[in-house]
Amino acid sequence: MSKNRPQTMGQQYGRRSWAEPWKIKMVEPISNVSAEARQNALVEAGYNTFLLRSADVYIDLLTDSGTSAMSDRQWAGIMLGDEAYAGSRNFYHLEEAIQDVYGYQYVVPTHQGRGAEHLISQAAIRPGQYVPGNMYFTTTRLHQELAGGTFIDVVIDEAHDPQNQHPFKGNVDLDKLQALIDEVGADQVAYLSLAGTVNMAGGQPVSMANVKALRALCSSHHIPIYLDATRMVENCFFIQEREEGYSDKPIEAILREFCSLTDGAWMSAKKDNLVNIGGWLAINDEKIFDRARNLVVVYEGLHTYGGMSGRDMEALAIGIRESIDDHHVRSRVEQVRYLGDLLTAWEIPIVQPIGGHAIFLDAKRFYPHIDQDQFPAQVLAAQLYLDSGVRSMERGIVSAGRDPETGNHRFPALELTRLTIPRRVYTQAHMDVVAESVLAVFENREKTNGLSMVFEPQYLRFFQARFEPLSSSQK
Ligand SMILES: Cc1ncc(COP(=O)(O)O)c(C=O)c1O
Repeated sequence: MSKNRPQTMGQQYGRRSWAEPWKIKMVEPISNVSAEARQNALVEAGYNTFLLRSADVYIDLLTDSGTSAMSDRQWAGIMLGDEAYAGSRNFYHLEEAIQDVYGYQYVVPTHQGRGAEHLISQAAIRPGQYVPGNMYFTTTRLHQELAGGTFIDVVIDEAHDPQNQHPFKGNVDLDKLQALIDEVGADQVAYLSLAGTVNMAGGQPVSMANVKALRALCSSHHIPIYLDATRMVENCFFIQEREEGYSDKPIEAILREFCSLTDGAWMSAKKDNLVNIGGWLAINDEKIFDRARNLVVVYEGLHTYGGMSGRDMEALAIGIRESIDDHHVRSRVEQVRYLGDLLTAWEIPIVQPIGGHAIFLDAKRFYPHIDQDQFPAQVLAAQLYLDSGVRSMERGIVSAGRDPETGNHRFPALELTRLTIPRRVYTQAHMDVVAESVLAVFENREKTNGLSMVFEPQYLRFFQARFEPLSSSQK
C-alpha cells in the first residue's frame, strides 16, 4: 500500500480505533446561519454566547449539561412515569439506582445540581465556617457563600497551570488543607468540598490515592467529605487509565470504592447521568439528611420528587445505570480527546492533559495582547461563533466574578474558553468542523481586540452579562 494512504486517528496513534457503543435511531436536523446573521445575533446577544438563541447556533458546545441524547430505554421509561404527587414509584427506582451505583444510604431528589448544592450548603454549613475545596465551581461556591461559608481553594498548584501534565490535577493538596485546619480549627471547617472531575481546571481528575489520604486526614479531624459527583464517572475512567491497580477494574467498581471514601454527594444529573433535567443529594449522615429532606419541601418540591416529574425520575434511574458502562465512558472521553489531539497537533494552546468533558482553549496564550480585564476568553467564544456558528463558553475572569469583600474582579490564573462535548450527540465529523474553526480563529488572532462589560448582574454574571467590542484605539 502507498505510504501516503490516509490513516484513521487510531492508526496515526498506532492503535485500533474505538467507536461509540450505539447506533442512531432518530436525528434532529441542524443547519448553520449566514455569517451576516451570526454577526447580528452576536451583537443582539451582547457578545455573550449564553444569550444566543439556539436556532442561531450550528454546533452547540456551550455545555454538556442537559444536552445528552437519551437512549431508547430512557425514552421508554418516560412512558412509565407515575405522576403521583407523593410516593411515585419512579422515585423508588431512582433511590435504588443511586444506592446501588453510588452506594450512599439516603437520597433527596432535586430539580438539578444547584438545588442539591443549596440543600447541602444550608444543611451542613454554619455561618462563619470555611469550606475548603479542589477549586471553586461557580454555583457551588455561591451557595456555600449564601449559607455564610467562605470557600478556600486547596487544589494542588499544578491545577492552575494549563501546561502542567500532572495526571491528577484535581487532587487536593493535603498540606494546604492541614494548614487551614491548623489556622482556623477543625470545628470551623464545615466539610471538604471535593469535585471529581474538576470542571474549572479543565475536567481534571482526582486520584484514588488522594481521596484515601483525604479520608484519613479528614476522619482524624471529624471533617466530612462531600463529593460533587457530577462527572465522577469520567473521573473513574482516568483512574482506570492512569492509576496503578485499577486497569482491570470496571468503572462501576471504581465508582463504588471512591464514593465509599466520602460521606455523601450532590449531583447535577444533567451530565454523567444522561438526562436533560434532574439532580440529587445522597448522604450517609441521618441528621444532615433529615435537614436536607425538610428543606427540599421549601425550595424544590416534596421529598419524593424534588422538582422532577415521575417520568424524569424514571429516565434518570435508567441513565444512572447506563452511565457506568465501560464502553460508553471510554467512547465519551475518547471523543473529547479526538478533538483535543487534533488541536494539540496543530500547536493550538489548550489545557493539558485533555480532560473528561471538554476542550479548554487557553485564551491567555491565544490572545497574549488582550489584558485579562478585557475578557480574552469571552472574546474567543465570540470569535468562534462568528467564524462557524460553533457555540462555546467563557471560563475565566467573567465566570470567576467579584470578591464579595473587596468588590474587585477575581483574576483567576486560568482564562479559558470551553468547547464542551454533549454525550452521545455529535459525530467525529462535527469534531473535525469544530477543530478547523478553532484553527481559523487562531490564524486570525493578532487582528482581534478585547471587550468591555456594559451590563453586569449581581450573581453568576457570566450567564447574563453583556459586552461591547473595544476599538483598536481603546486597547
Ligand atoms: C461541577 C459542577 N457542579 C455543579 C453544577 C451545577 O449543576 P446544575 O447546572 O445542574 O445546577 C455544574 C453545572 O454545570 C457543574 O459542572
